Amino acid sequence: MVETERLICASEDLQERGTGIGFSLPDAGKTQQSGFVIRYDGKVHGYVNRCAHVPVTLDWQEGDFFDLSRHFLICSTHGAQYLPETGRCVLGPCKGKSLQKLNVVERDGRIYLIETTPVESHL
Ligand code: FES
Repeated sequence: MVETERLICASEDLQERGTGIGFSLPDAGKTQQSGFVIRYDGKVHGYVNRCAHVPVTLDWQEGDFFDLSRHFLICSTHGAQYLPETGRCVLGPCKGKSLQKLNVVERDGRIYLIETTPVESHL
């Protein structure tokens, strides 16, 4: 496996429990997917932007992933609520399921997506 880092945004662009930042994910041969990052309790978390209930994006308004309490991520379609730290659904039609977590890292004032790709054998 080869790991590569892709710059998503500057740290200052991602405010505590504020608007999330979306980005495209590599086409896995099926539908085009997107991801997003949010900041919660100071830490950055990244997820695939797809509800665990029905494969739709979570944010009706772009970047609007938090509920009104700013303690949960919420799907704007049917209201599933997810823990920001783990992506686990705690309320709604997909309770017990989880968002797909992405590997993100914050370093030197920037936030990166860590992408892993298989190494092709040339034997
Ligand atoms: S589509 Fe997200 S809660 Fe149903």
